[in-house]
Amino acid sequence: MARKSLVLSTLVLFAGVVLSHAETPAAPTPQSSLPRIEQRDGRYALMVDGAPYLMLGAQVNNSSAWPAMLPKVWPAIEALHANTVEMPIYWEQFESSPGHFDDSVLLTLLQQARQHKVHLVLLWFGTWKNGSGHYTPEWIKLDNARYPRVICSDGRTMDSLSPLFQSTLEADRAAFTALMRRLKAADPLHTVLMVQVENEAGTWGCIRDYSPTAQRLFDGPVPAELIAGLHKQPGTWQQIFGDDADEFFHAWNVAHYIGEVAAAGKAIDPLPMYANAALRDPFHPKRGSYESGGPTDNVLDIWKIAAPALDVLSPDIYNPSYDAYTRYLELYGRAGNALFIPETGNQPPYARYFFAALGRGAIGFSPFGVDYTASVNEPLGAPRLDKDALAPFALDYAIAAPMDRELARLSFEGKLQGVSESPTEHRQSLDFGSWRAVISYGMPQFGFGKEPGGNPQPDGGALIGQLGPDEFLVSALHARVDFTPTAAGKQRQFLRVEEGSYENGVWRFERIWNGDQTDYGLNFTSAPQVLRVKLATY
Ligand code: DGJ
Repeated sequence: MARKSLVLSTLVLFAGVVLSHAETPAAPTPQSSLPRIEQRDGRYALMVDGAPYLMLGAQVNNSSAWPAMLPKVWPAIEALHANTVEMPIYWEQFESSPGHFDDSVLLTLLQQARQHKVHLVLLWFGTWKNGSGHYTPEWIKLDNARYPRVICSDGRTMDSLSPLFQSTLEADRAAFTALMRRLKAADPLHTVLMVQVENEAGTWGCIRDYSPTAQRLFDGPVPAELIAGLHKQPGTWQQIFGDDADEFFHAWNVAHYIGEVAAAGKAIDPLPMYANAALRDPFHPKRGSYESGGPTDNVLDIWKIAAPALDVLSPDIYNPSYDAYTRYLELYGRAGNALFIPETGNQPPYARYFFAALGRGAIGFSPFGVDYTASVNEPLGAPRLDKDALAPFALDYAIAAPMDRELARLSFEGKLQGVSESPTEHRQSLDFGSWRAVISYGMPQFGFGKEPGGNPQPDGGALIGQLGPDEFLVSALHARVDFTPTAAGKQRQFLRVEEGSYENGVWRFERIWNGDQTDYGLNFTSAPQVLRVKLATY
């Protein structure tokens, strides 16, 4: 947690003690500024305590936010060097009987997060969790007359609640607003930075609700807001969207529902809010093979129009292929949407995508399933989650954590670039105007050697920030980084290569790299090293 927050937390604790002893009226509670997503020149920052913040995230397993599990959560978070933990809030726990809200788990999470000096993102497991209503309270689950499920075109009743019924929306909205009210009262210093509204909303195995109520709406006109937002002529869903009509209808209704829940929550506590997507294949999507209705890449515009209260639409990336992963970064790091990866696989190949994600301006990155409860989600994640499994991600965060604020600022200023190793292109380059950074994989540390052949398993990556016209902040793993001047006929020379680290925003010099350490470029291994590099030409 930022130092300012810690100081304020201490003040709050101290103030609490003094007041209760003296029995004087409560002094105003210290507040820290509200976290918010800021956009400038098409780039985004998550502002925390007034400055860009880089979320080095970790999401716990689905059933790990219960107080009894937390002792198995914190050691994993510490091993990872995460600064933010994504924790579910379960509707079934929060409102096990209608209208009675139990904030005990929420309060425990807040208290323990503060003790462990991390921020939180809360995940509202409400009407949808991976498309189903498994986290709704029993009184919802057992009353399908009042809270109807999706009925598919062949008459099947689906394991997914319909987004079309006011009763369901009202119930979810009431619970969510109660949560935000409790949160606001309990968290004046904003341990919680963002809230995810539902989890991978939509429906698996059926494109939309085909119940009589749904059909009536589907046969009616497309809402004027959507028509206007997409610059279409009025008409029915079928007339306007043809083959996409069923899917777009569901997306609109799911998004609209979540937008209403989010707006009501924000009216109480205006924290940044987002929705996450179970992704479809980025190159050959086949309708029916992916969850329908969620913020998949083909319906992002619909979601933006339907749910303006959501700040971000986010990809849960569980496809380790380089082409797919980097395509998802492009699809979601697009104009009008901050890139935030709330979930990604925790297997080693995913760790290197931290660099490409930051290079595309990500405000946060978070492997999934980070705790020692013995739950695993193989094959999406590692077969065993222990310190060794976390090591590749811990290395990323060991590099970034001491300079998270510097990286977030550089990113917001458009001065940060990054790449992850591709299995086919063993040399990549990044354009910095008068300099080109060249990153190669599979090179020896000593000697020019050979053409780069890649690492045995692609696990390299590099992150480069521009500090001045000829000065760069450089870090990488399993890669050689060099620079070439873009001006013809010029050669690069290293004027000064300092290794060091940031401590509370101040660069601490450790040593100068020269000789064998620079004669063949800047060679990074699995040591978390950070360099400040001054270049010149001759
Ligand atoms: C994506 C979901 O959002 C998570 O809650 C979890 O179910 C993973 N899939 C799989 O472990």
